[in-house]
Formats: sequence, C-alpha cells, structure tokens
Amino acid sequence: MEKIVILTGAGISAESGMGTFRDKDGLWTQVRLEDVATPEGFARNPAMVQEFYNFRRVKAAEAKPNAAHVALARLQAHHAGEVVIVTQNVDALHEAGGAAGVIHMHGRLDSALCAGCGHRWHAPDTMAPDEACPACGGPFGRPDVVWFGEMPYRMGEIYDHLASADLFVSIGTSGEVYPAAGFVQEARANDIRTLELNLERSAGSRLFHETRLGPATEIVPAWVDELVRRN
Ligand code: APR
Repeated sequence: MEKIVILTGAGISAESGMGTFRDKDGLWTQVRLEDVATPEGFARNPAMVQEFYNFRRVKAAEAKPNAAHVALARLQAHHAGEVVIVTQNVDALHEAGGAAGVIHMHGRLDSALCAGCGHRWHAPDTMAPDEACPACGGPFGRPDVVWFGEMPYRMGEIYDHLASADLFVSIGTSGEVYPAAGFVQEARANDIRTLELNLERSAGSRLFHETRLGPATEIVPAWVDELVRRN
C-alpha cells in the first residue's frame, strides 16, 4: 500500500482567492513580514498585527475550497494506502474540502494561543491587541500562527511520516521557507520518490524526480484521477 505524504503551500489556495506570499502582488509585497509575521513585530505593534490576522481570518473563513482541495480529500478517501497532508497554509480549506488529519505546521487562523499560559481556543473573528485568555485571564491572546523565528508545529510527526512514505508530493509552494523547503531533500535521503505540482518552477524544482506545471485546480485533480484509477 503506497503511503503518500503531501506538502501544500499558498499556491493550492490561490484559486480560492487567498492570494500567495511571493508572487507578483503577493502578501509580502503589501506588508513587511518583519512587521506582521515575527514575535518582534507583534511586541512592537500588537494592534497592527492583530488587525492583519483579523483581516486574513475573515477572508479565509469566506473562501471556498477549490478543485485541488477536493481532489486531495478524494485521494484520502479512495487511495488504498495512507495519505498524509501537511500544510504550510493557515486557512482551513483542506478541511472544508473534506480532508482529514491535516497537519498545520504553521498553525491556523481559526485558532488562538495564549502567549502567557499556552492555552489554545477557537479564535474569535477579531482579536484585540490585549485579547484576554479564557483560561488564565491574562491579556496575552495571539494568533495561533507560527511566525518567522518560531518553531513550526508537529515536526517530529512530519519527519516520521516522511521516513515511512513511498511518495512525497509538494503542491503550490515556492520552496523558499525552511523547514518545509527541506522536506524534498529528506524524502530523497530516504530514497522516496518525489513529485512537484506547481504553477511554475520553484526554488526546489531541480530536487524533484518529476515536476508538473499548471494551476492546482487542473493538475491536482488530474494527478489524483491517475492514482485513483490505478487503485
Ligand atoms: N496553482 C499552483 N501553484 C500556484 C498557483 C496556482 N494557482 N498560484 C501560485 N502558485 C505557486 C507559485 O508559483 C509559488 O511557487 O505557489 C507558490 C506560492 O509560493 P509562496 O507565495 O512563497 O507561498 P508558500 O510557498 O506557501 O510560502 C511558504 O512562507 O511566508 C511564509 O508562512 C508563510 O507558509 C508561508 C511560507
């Protein structure tokens, strides 16, 4: 039974209107990541950072899963082997598309975290700069999103999955940000076949056995159809 580990990035949610980070007019061309995606930026201006995530949280909640999200859920439902989805995205579009057990290594917009006691709760649409933690009451509520300089979540689990996979597939990511960008090397070190599905060649393309280029809503369902037909 072929175990498949899939890494997704902003490109899989682009056609749901979520935008990406490093494409033309991407998020990091509109705001400085140092200001809104680092602990230092949050300490400097919590109101602006909460505002930034409030806007993204509402946008993500309004977005609809696209054919690529739905295709991966179909693969999970029909593929004989285990299909593990690891996402860098903080939206919940994989779940909305029917996927299960998604590992959110960069956290999620719909989750809040207390910087004081570590408590997590379902994030309200808008969080205040001094958002009170429902557990300890402290004004330490922050987006449960992994910022630059912070440790991504569930890395041990992810490397275990990578070590036991038969196929590693990267979808819609520029391969610019580690540790996710290093997963393809990890897979190759474990003698695992690697496939990249992306709109254009990425920083990591040369490391993949195979790269297919095109919009996720076209090339992901086509790839899933191939696999499901083979089952
Ligand atoms: N279909 C498939 N791929 C697409 C599409 C599409 N419709 N549109 C864009 N892409 C590809 C781009 O070619 C690019 O390679 O998606 C990738 C998006 O790259 P980034 O904007 O860098 O997003 P991502 O790789 O997810 O960024 C990784 O960086 O800022 C941090 O935490 C943030 O999780 C994010 C991480």
